[in-house]
Amino acid sequence: MIGIFDSGIGGLTVVRSLMKQLPDYDIIYFGDTARTPYGSKSPETVVGYALENTQFLLKQGAKIVVMACNTASSVASDSVAENFDIPIFEVISPASVKAVKSSRNLIVGIIGTRATVKSGIYEKKIRAMKPEAKVYSVACPLLVPLVEEGWLKKPETVMIIKKYLHPLKVSQIDTLILGCTHYPLLIDKIQRKIGKRVTVIDSSIALAENVKDFLDTHPEVDNLLGKKGEFKLFVSDVTEQFEKTAEATLKRKVLLEHIKL
Ligand code: DGL
Repeated sequence: MIGIFDSGIGGLTVVRSLMKQLPDYDIIYFGDTARTPYGSKSPETVVGYALENTQFLLKQGAKIVVMACNTASSVASDSVAENFDIPIFEVISPASVKAVKSSRNLIVGIIGTRATVKSGIYEKKIRAMKPEAKVYSVACPLLVPLVEEGWLKKPETVMIIKKYLHPLKVSQIDTLILGCTHYPLLIDKIQRKIGKRVTVIDSSIALAENVKDFLDTHPEVDNLLGKKGEFKLFVSDVTEQFEKTAEATLKRKVLLEHIKL
């Protein structure tokens, strides 16, 4: 089973991308809805959550774990990799590699939660590959609650996106990383506001491609994974909105199982 966790609903964009790349693979998802948002919490707190979430997925039979959450990936991927002896995937590296490859002038913008932007992790990864790259980051704390509320098409949401993207437009970025699991649900609006000359990188797609590449080249791990197309969805708090947004994101009926960590 492939285990995936996120602070809430946003990681379902990674599930959606994984289901496209690896349609038959069994997937178990944990959305930490009781403790969301992670983006405004301290790194220590998020590390603790990430370790507990990984432990839970392992107990359910996960053989690899995908940290869908950008915030958790930013601050906790080293701790999780040190504490568990299975392949762990984080979302920052694949998105950074993809951005560097597709950027024409190496002027890259990042949008994410406050914690992700404060960690400076995307800048570090991109500059490690291309020291000459110019990287500009903007924290967009209002976008997560707007997505959680299902306000995907409201004019207010479009206005807020425009305001957040303004400094990146001024900096003339040619590539924009959606550094938060929730943002792919707003990709059309973001693309429209940043302009069609800017390549928008959906970090959930980059991550799913990275997992597929790894499994293609590691049959010893691939053989451990079930391939009956099963999907299990656990949350730490059941909300009506979660179910609605989950079904709209995955375009299928979902059954939420409530667990307490
Ligand atoms: N899932 C988080 C991320 O990708 C966003 C939501 C949160 O703040 O918990 O950064």
